[in-house]
This record gives sequence, structure tokens and C-alpha cells, in this order.
Amino acid sequence: MPFAPRPGRPFAPAGRVPPVLDRLGRPARDLRISVTDRCNFRCTYCMPKEIFGPDFAFLPRSEVLTFEEIRQLAEAFVELGVEKLRVTGGEPLVRRDLPVLVGMLAELRTPAGDAVDLTLTTNGSALRRLAGPLAAAGLGRVTVSLDSLDDDVFRAMNGVDFPVARVLDGVAAAREAGLAPIKVNMVVKRDVNEASILPMARWARDEDVILRCIEYMDVGHANGWRLDDVVPAAEIVAAIDAELPLEAMPANYPGEVATRWRYRDGAGEVGVIASVTRPFCGDCTRARVSAEGRLYTCLFTGDGHDLRAPLRDGTAGADLVALLAGIWGRRDDRYSELRTEATTALPRIEMYAMGG
Ligand code: GTP
Ligand code: 5AD
Ligand code: SF4
Ligand code: SF4
Repeated sequence: MPFAPRPGRPFAPAGRVPPVLDRLGRPARDLRISVTDRCNFRCTYCMPKEIFGPDFAFLPRSEVLTFEEIRQLAEAFVELGVEKLRVTGGEPLVRRDLPVLVGMLAELRTPAGDAVDLTLTTNGSALRRLAGPLAAAGLGRVTVSLDSLDDDVFRAMNGVDFPVARVLDGVAAAREAGLAPIKVNMVVKRDVNEASILPMARWARDEDVILRCIEYMDVGHANGWRLDDVVPAAEIVAAIDAELPLEAMPANYPGEVATRWRYRDGAGEVGVIASVTRPFCGDCTRARVSAEGRLYTCLFTGDGHDLRAPLRDGTAGADLVALLAGIWGRRDDRYSELRTEATTALPRIEMYAMGG
């Protein structure tokens, strides 16, 4: 099956005022907020346990943004045109009292008066306990990371011997709490979990979950990424299509990360995230704020902009919006489109520190 081209659609104006565009004409539409750099997993492609051992120094609490600082930042980004907030980590559910923060973010309104799309990416390990409180606080939906249904494969990939069954129970808890649509992210690594693609696709169809297979990316340096480890999205789609016939679907919105496919028999959809083989920088509208309050304008950047100092110095309201607008207006990142052997050697922030 041919790999469908991404449909090019213009960005529609979001709020009352024209959105601030970066140097490549892209507005800021999505804000990903990391609420902690800590995680209870040690996924081989993100925080390999050989590097992130018991002595690894995570951020001290004083360096992590408070809930009120996060709310202030999110509010300023929403004023700038952001419509979607995604809470990330590390593992966001290890941050104490997370439902309190979610409640604060759920109150934000766009300049047009609409609620924001409020979502969260989690490894699912604590969803049984927290899905209900998060939904009650105003969370809209969740994305759960799960790389295999094969217990041995999953336990090896998560690095802490965590069983599949507990993540599946977390997915069930999210469903019971009404956090839909549920998406499941699966990072595909050559010779590691390729054989898990079809079982995951079948399971997701049966469970009414949207599976998204992600090409293993060269984020950070800790994971020892090699191009040979990447299974191209076209190959993933072909493998599913051979058993469960697919047809291409249009994007939900301009700048959507996943390329979407529906099953020809009408039973659900699957997405692939082809950041290595088919970069999507052209319409990348994502800003990322780390737990310590640094703004990153690209997943692969080596440096960010400190927002914590201005926040703690009292920068707020229109001044904060102007600060963000200035940074966004200078943005020209398109790392994945420029990826070469030389660029993969440049300094880059690790995924766990930036929130994926
Ligand atoms: P939806 O709102 O559900 O469409 O979410 P999303 O497309 O933002 O999905 P999610 O946050 O689950 O992202 C899925 C994965 O895609 C991330 O975990 C990353 O691995 C990858 N990804 C997301 N954004 C970017 C990006 O800007 N650049 C690159 N290279 N990869 C990205
Ligand atoms: N390549 C692709 N996806 C990754 N993720 C973490 N590290 C990588 C990587 N190197 C994904 C996780 C999770 C999200 C936060 O990022 O699977 O779904
Ligand atoms: Fe933790 Fe997510 Fe990184 Fe895995 S991918 S180690 S769950 S932050
Ligand atoms: Fe956006 Fe950077 Fe990813 Fe390109 S590589 S899509 S600019 S985050």
C-alpha cells in the first residue's frame, strides 16, 4: 500500500488576534508541559537503567515549577493561541497532587472563550489509582505508552520488569473514568518489538483504542540510537495492512503528528508517527516546557529558554505573553527535516527531561 502524502491545509486563525507566527509561518497551538523529570520506568529508548541508576540526580524540588507557575505559563500560552495542553513527564503521575494542577489548567479558556483540549501522556502504571481523580478534575483524555502485549518483551523494554497486565488495567481504569478517546503509543524498535505490532493492532481494535506506532527517534543521546534500529512507518503500515486491510484517513487538524489509517472493515483506526522517515516539521506547532521551566521550541534542540527566572522575578500577564511571543517569533527549528549524521551528533536534551 502506498504511503499517503500528508494533506497540506492552511492554519485557521485561533483567537481574537492574529496568532504569533514563527520564522517558518507556524503558530503555537500545542503546549506540552513536563511536570516532573522523574519516572518509575527505565525504558531502553528513553532512560536506560545503565545510565539512570539509583544515584542519578533528578531535579531538586526547588528547581521544579510550582503548580501556580505552571498555570501562569499555560495561561500566557493560551493567550498566544495555544489550544491544546498536554501534561507530560518523566512520568507525570508521579508528581504529587497532579489532579490539583489538572483542575487549575481545566479552568483556562482561549481568547474565543473555549475550553482547551487538556490531555496527558502516561506510562499507565498509576492510572488505576488516578484516572478517576484526574477525570473529575477536568482532564479530557489520555495517551498511554505501551510497547508490547508480550510480557517478556514489555518487561525488558520498560527496564523495571513492569507487567503488561497492570498497564492494561490502567487503560481499563481510564476507560471507566471516561478519559476517551484513549490512544496508545508504541515505540517500534527493530528486532525488539516488531513482532508485537500485529497483536497490538488487533488488541487496540477490539478495545476501541487508537494505536499509534512511533518510529524510534534519536532524541537525546542516552539511548545510543542507530538508524538500523528504526522500523520505517511505511513498513509498519504494510505489515498491518497485509493482515488487516487499511485505507488512508485525512489529518484531524493541521500539524497532527500521526498519519492516520482506518481499517477497511470499519473497525477503528491506527496511526503512525514517522518522525525519522517522513518528518513533519513543516507544520509543527508544538512548544515544550520542562519541569524546571525551560521553553524548548523543538524536541531535538540542545538548549532552551529559561522562563523560571522571569516568572520568579514577577514577570506576569501581558509581559509574560510578550516574552513568549518574542521567543516564538524567532523560532526556526526543523530538526527532523535536516537530520544527518552530523546533526545527530549535536548536543540534545533527553526526552525524559523535555516530556516527549
Ligand atoms: P494528539 O493530540 O492525540 O494528536 O497527540 P499528539 O499527536 O501530540 O501525540 P503524543 O503527544 O502522544 O505524541 C506522540 C509521540 O509523537 C510523542 O511521544 C513523540 O514521540 C512524537 N512526537 C510528538 N511531537 C513531536 C514533534 O514535535 N517532533 C517529533 N519529532 N516527534 C514528536
Ligand atoms: N523515540 C520515540 N518515541 C519515544 N518516546 C520516548 N522516547 C522515545 C524515542 N526515543 C515516547 C514514549 C512515550 C512518549 C512520551 O515518548 O513511548 O509514548
Ligand atoms: Fe519513563 Fe516515559 Fe521515558 Fe519510559 S518513555 S522511561 S515511561 S518517561
Ligand atoms: Fe517540531 Fe522539532 Fe519535531 Fe520538527 S523535529 S516536528 S520542529 S519538534
